[in-house]
Amino acid sequence: MNTAVHWDIINPEGKFRVVVTKQLPGERWLQILTGAGCRVAMDTGENRLDAAAIEAAFGRRCDAAIGQLTEAWDSRLLRAFKKAGGRVYSNYAVGFNNVDITTATAYGIPVGNTPGVLTEATAEMAVALTFAAARRLGEAERYLRAGRFRGWLPSLFTGRRIGGKTLGIIGAGRIGEAYARMMVEGCKMNLLYYDIHPNRRLSETIARYAAYLKARGLPPVTCRRTATVEELLQQADVVSLHTVLDDNTHHLINAERLGLMKKNAVLINTSRGPVIDETALVHHLQTHPDFRAGLDVFENEPRLAPGLEMRGNAVLLPHIASATRWTREGMAVLAACNVAALISGYPVWNAADVSPFLTDDPPPAAPSIVNARDLQLPVYGTGDRSS
Ligand code: DGY
Repeated sequence: MNTAVHWDIINPEGKFRVVVTKQLPGERWLQILTGAGCRVAMDTGENRLDAAAIEAAFGRRCDAAIGQLTEAWDSRLLRAFKKAGGRVYSNYAVGFNNVDITTATAYGIPVGNTPGVLTEATAEMAVALTFAAARRLGEAERYLRAGRFRGWLPSLFTGRRIGGKTLGIIGAGRIGEAYARMMVEGCKMNLLYYDIHPNRRLSETIARYAAYLKARGLPPVTCRRTATVEELLQQADVVSLHTVLDDNTHHLINAERLGLMKKNAVLINTSRGPVIDETALVHHLQTHPDFRAGLDVFENEPRLAPGLEMRGNAVLLPHIASATRWTREGMAVLAACNVAALISGYPVWNAADVSPFLTDDPPPAAPSIVNARDLQLPVYGTGDRSS
């Protein structure tokens, strides 16, 4: 039950009624919506809204909504949204596992997301977590702050080196690729990746980097796509997860697969919590003191699996991988453009590069609609239907 939900109304005379379930950073997104003739009802509180509170905000009419990854836009909420006249929904996130896309599509509701602007920020955080876990930064900092540091010691918090080791990424989409490049080019790691699709751009980039190293008399790095997750887990020193969350990836990392990993491996997750069976991970961390985990996401956020907070060999962050001001403002702009474009009757953007939307003169299009193809929405610049 939400006790204190406060809705600010911006541009009350606006023609289209838009519900935004959390105040978003920056001002540009709001200018985009009001510029498109929207009246915006925005919750300014910090509490996660439940379905009843969101439904109440729809009132008798709601044309569009921007929601959060913490909210379940399930069939019930989407039905209420449709009934109120909902024509487009955008998640304020690149991930959209919280939205029932099948139902949205059946209702003819386009669902937007915010890719592109959080690739580097998320990859950088995965890098930070990798080093934090391998070099035991959390434990060492807690030790220091507790006043236990008595001076330099030869074996104080000895960790693992990353350079030259084998990196395994599961999911080689945009974020996985950016992280892999940072680690391979920065730390000369050899890369294994598992993805249902080959990533040629990644393997070619690494091949060019290997040639560059070789030409300078340095050992070249390698890149290989593994046939199975198991093969990658057995061979990698660092494993980082960059998959979407769906039925195929739920508990992808379970007790059995943890058992295949090296005893002193590092496991990083900046994707979605339920990709790891967190109870199994707690047990594994407990029974394998040299194993390390760096986690930004959890199976039942904001709760942690019992015992996880006690595991010194895990570095834990409160889902902040994309939390840079530029990124979060960019996400707000993309979500607003998704909504403004579709209520204005514009088509869907035709490319993965969404940077034109971050300029003062964004294209008349929706930057990213995940069910555009199924809804056969027209595509920008082609006059065609989405293909
Ligand atoms: C997303 O966008 O899906 C992230 O988890 C939040 O930054």
